[in-house]
Amino acid sequence: MAEPPLIMVLNGPNLNLLGTREPDIYGADTLDDIAGRLEDEAAALAVRLDMRQSNHEGHLIDWLHESAAPAERGGAHAVIINPGALTHTSIALRDAIGGIATPVIEVHLSNIHARESFRRRSHISPVVHGTIAGLGPEGYSLALRAAARLKR
Ligand code: DQA
Repeated sequence: MAEPPLIMVLNGPNLNLLGTREPDIYGADTLDDIAGRLEDEAAALAVRLDMRQSNHEGHLIDWLHESAAPAERGGAHAVIINPGALTHTSIALRDAIGGIATPVIEVHLSNIHARESFRRRSHISPVVHGTIAGLGPEGYSLALRAAARLKR
């Protein structure tokens, strides 16, 4: 029998500090708290979850490429990504997303459009399936629900 679809959840620089990093902006939940809830939600949605974090741009790019493999070789049904500050700077990350067929959903805990002007531009948004910003950790849950429902 085929395995349940895999949803990769990728987190970029500094998101390992969630819980202690600027809690007035990013909230009190750690990345592990968010992962724990997502695991429960993934089980209820009958999908598999693979949540990762890296402070290194190249790791995120390698993982995006990995997501594009056929399902039997570890490819993903969809990717949810919070690229952190790379959202606003990384053409390489944008090109990685633009270069794969895997649908990608961009998530931000904070409302990047209501903050400093340099955060208002996302290099990622033009190449993703959809974007959620400003809903805190709930954004990951909503993205997971949408990712699980995507037709491939
Ligand atoms: C963020 C927003 C980015 O501007 C910031 O650099 C982050 C987190 C968010 O989740 O709100 O690291 O992606």
